[in-house]
Amino acid sequence: MFGVYVHVPFCAKRCDYCAFATWADRSHLIGQYLRAVATELQRAVDDGMPAATSVFFGGGTPSLAPPDELMAVLDAVPLAPGAEVTVECNPDTVTAELLATYVAHGVNRVSLGVQSMVPHVLAALGRTHDPANVERSVALVREAGLLTFNLDVIYGGAGETLADWEQTVTAVVALDPPHVSAYALTVEAGTPLAGDPGRHPDDDDQADKYERADELLTAAGLASYEISNWARPGHESRHNQLYWRQGDYRGFGCAAHSHRAGRRWWNVRTPERYVALVESGCSAEAGGETLDAATRRVEGLQLALRTREGIPAGALDTDGLDGLVVVEGDRLVLTRAGRLLANEISTRLA
Ligand SMILES: C[S@@+](CC[C@H](N)C(=O)[O-])C[C@H]1O[C@@H](n2cnc3c(N)ncnc32)[C@H](O)[C@@H]1O
Ligand code: SF4
Repeated sequence: MFGVYVHVPFCAKRCDYCAFATWADRSHLIGQYLRAVATELQRAVDDGMPAATSVFFGGGTPSLAPPDELMAVLDAVPLAPGAEVTVECNPDTVTAELLATYVAHGVNRVSLGVQSMVPHVLAALGRTHDPANVERSVALVREAGLLTFNLDVIYGGAGETLADWEQTVTAVVALDPPHVSAYALTVEAGTPLAGDPGRHPDDDDQADKYERADELLTAAGLASYEISNWARPGHESRHNQLYWRQGDYRGFGCAAHSHRAGRRWWNVRTPERYVALVESGCSAEAGGETLDAATRRVEGLQLALRTREGIPAGALDTDGLDGLVVVEGDRLVLTRAGRLLANEISTRLA
């Protein structure tokens, strides 16, 4: 397996909880930026980069870019037969024409940033779409012939009650998605949310919401296969599974990370610096590190513990973990209660 990640660092508006490398005032750079990404990709291909089994356009908001310009980047990626190709989209940018262009170039999966299906929660999160936009986008995704797609939701926004969250998950389930990612809202350093403690989520409230989401999604036939991810059988994200299995991948664009056989490296953070480096024939790499074997092993176990595949049964001292882990054959897997304490349990692997 080999993955390609393409970072698209542009948004119409910055959500005040988001710490991703993205900018809301640089759309004039989109064309020049995507041409630089295609150049960086072509250099990697010339250096013998393998064919990709998965490609992920993430952001930022990739669907903000003119679709033919975004697809010129995809055209530069050598694809393995049956490769999974995903584009992250914001619901208010999705049109039939945009999706038709994606599909014509080989995109077979989209990930929609839904976040909530309750208007006052969307407003508190600073989102620019409404629930009707989400329903319209999902209908367009189906009409475009995309057989698989993901809906992202967030729990723990300011003013969100448990009933609001149940309404979101129920409305999401009613859209019959093959895949759902549900994330606990996290307070990221340096964001406006970080400076506003009155809006910080409560751990116990988020734990209740996690359990409720898992019940509702599981009952709807979406199985948990990683702490924050649920899918119908066969619709698991191969690109994410590659990350969780410590596979090799190349990231293109500013702030993109790459990994090969225990060496990790990353590109410069801003689109301006990225474009300037690539256009002058230089590498966009800003730094890197090589993991020693012990660190790599522990990281691998920590990632696997978060997944349905679990870890080898002997890799964890289970003393005092009753009800939190279960042994299935020669594997040890977290229970629902255990998934809520995954970080604490993970520290035992070090
Ligand atoms: C980088 S965003 C890209 C998707 C798209 N731009 C959007 O927001 O709809 C990917 C996902 O990260 C999640 N995310 C971003 N910031 C987060 C935070 N502080 N806590 C939890 N989830 C977050 C959101 O669910 C979002 O859909
Ligand atoms: S959450 Fe998505 S839309 Fe909002 S700023 Fe981050 S990347 Fe952009």
